[in-house]
Amino acid sequence: KEGEKMLSVADLERAGSKKLPDSIREFYNSGSTEQLTIHENSRAFSKYRVRPRVLVDVSKADTSTNLFGGQRVSFPLGVSPAGVQAMAHPDGETATSRACAKRGVSMGISSFSNYSITEVRSAGTNVAPIIHVMQLYTMKDRDLQLRIIRDAELAGCTAIFLTADSPVLGVRYNEWRNDFRTPAGLAFPIIELTTERIQNQTHDSGFTAFNDDAHNWTRDIPWLRSVTKMQIWIKGVLTAEDTLLAVQYGCDGIIVSNHGGRQLDGVPATIDALPECVAAANGRIRVHVDGGIRTGTDIFKALAFGAECCWVGRPAIWGLAVSLSMAVACQMGSVHTECLGRPAENSFAA
Ligand code: FNR
Repeated sequence: KEGEKMLSVADLERAGSKKLPDSIREFYNSGSTEQLTIHENSRAFSKYRVRPRVLVDVSKADTSTNLFGGQRVSFPLGVSPAGVQAMAHPDGETATSRACAKRGVSMGISSFSNYSITEVRSAGTNVAPIIHVMQLYTMKDRDLQLRIIRDAELAGCTAIFLTADSPVLGVRYNEWRNDFRTPAGLAFPIIELTTERIQNQTHDSGFTAFNDDAHNWTRDIPWLRSVTKMQIWIKGVLTAEDTLLAVQYGCDGIIVSNHGGRQLDGVPATIDALPECVAAANGRIRVHVDGGIRTGTDIFKALAFGAECCWVGRPAIWGLAVSLSMAVACQMGSVHTECLGRPAENSFAA
């Protein structure tokens, strides 16, 4: 219903999802293969109970904190780097950036953003000071990787989030079933893919063409260290062993993440993997977490297990979709179905 009250992220998910054409909604909302990990991510939080203390003065409670060695945020939350946000709203990542700046939280810029690093960053900084981190893949084209790093430095990004859980793209049945293509008119300026170049390309084939599945700690981390002074964080760590490697290779932090259940299915929920990573880090590097975080209590539980900050991916996308007018949504539905060569009415979710 239009005008529905948004009281929770669950409300946002329902309302946002309704606005999106089937194949776009499934692209955003689904996980890989059997959907085990995506569901586990949220479900796992409900296993844990909060042990409250009473008669504590909370009249001057302050949720603000410092991240990345001294930058202030209004509370320990950020919006994870998630690609192709212009499918949810024409303003895409620039709208997310404005919203993050307004609320005083940080934002990750995906390499698959539909806007350039400068556009995303300035959309936020025009509103208020904001921390941006640049999400990076290990790429076959090192020159391009370097150009992205330089652009991120110039624009004022604080850190690189190197996504380490994606040697290959996760097996997402929805993309194959729907023959998912990036809708006409969108581009990926950060990885220098113009509208013409991505036309009719599946996400899968596009990713394989550009990502380097030979990535490894020894080759990639010292190289990154040698080319930039930005902080280096590893995104996608789920074990004590890899946390220890991140310490050994001099990384600044890790994001305990399973890519929102979109990569290898069957890996643990991030809230369950968090304690062993925190123990292995032992205060030597910082530990953040994302995956299935949907309430303030989820954030509390993650902090109680030792995370310094939480990040959320899909909730921001649902937020974008909620603000989409029905007229634009219908137009998007037909543009997308034209791409797929199917009649519009089959694709648009009422
Ligand atoms: C992602 N994520 C992601 N991660 C990344 O490192 N690079 C990327 O380009 C993307 N793209 C992307 C697109 C979409 C549509 C989603 C939903 C997610 C993963 C993201 O950064 C984060 O790890 C998860 O989204 C966190 O889980 P929740 O909060 O979505 O459950």
